[in-house]
Amino acid sequence: MDKKPLIVLNFKTYAESMGEKAVVMAKYCEEVSKDSGVKIVACPQIPDIYRVAGSVKIPVFAQHIDAAGAGSYTGHITADCVKSAGATGTLINHSERRLLLADIDSALLSAKKAGLATIVCTNNIAVTSAAAALSPDYVAIEPPELIGSGNPVSKANPEIVSGSVKAVKTINPHVKVLCGAGISTGDDVAAAIELGAVGVLLASGVIKAKDPKAALFDLVKKI
Ligand code: G3P
Repeated sequence: MDKKPLIVLNFKTYAESMGEKAVVMAKYCEEVSKDSGVKIVACPQIPDIYRVAGSVKIPVFAQHIDAAGAGSYTGHITADCVKSAGATGTLINHSERRLLLADIDSALLSAKKAGLATIVCTNNIAVTSAAAALSPDYVAIEPPELIGSGNPVSKANPEIVSGSVKAVKTINPHVKVLCGAGISTGDDVAAAIELGAVGVLLASGVIKAKDPKAALFDLVKKI
């Protein structure tokens, strides 16, 4: 396991991190990662993966993949396709893009077959436990009510983070735990690590910041 925490920046569909701006945002991530030694993953919108992955050396993850494989499917996002666009991993089951449990399982299998790293997002400890049983690389616990709130999960609901860490240890200790929702400062990251998370998944605290690069530098300041 990496010793330093992992920071995963979800670009969501924010206008501030779309198209050419996605490349600029990913370059900020790359600069801060290089300077601090902290691994930062960029998750642009799926059509932006190719241009972002071609412009930076940090890992680029998809925000979502579907359970569908190659074949007679239309409008689906496959693991193989995001991989060939340059992604090295993917989020699965984000609260804003939920899947059924059986589809999470199929999406995970396709991702693993394609050689993608996997982060399954969860909304509570029970779902964290179910996700851990499917053996992703990471689960990311994010209480939906705190997403975009600026109220960090590591302070507003520390029990859900430590409870997820405990549940994952029991069910599948190979799975690493991230937490997210409302994270925006280095103090929030430090609090997450204290609770047993190996890193954070965040969006608005950086993407919507007046100075996203400064916000990224702040995130890693305590690491
Ligand atoms: O994927 C990250 C996320 O849902 C948390 O969003 O804006 O609260 O950092 P935010």
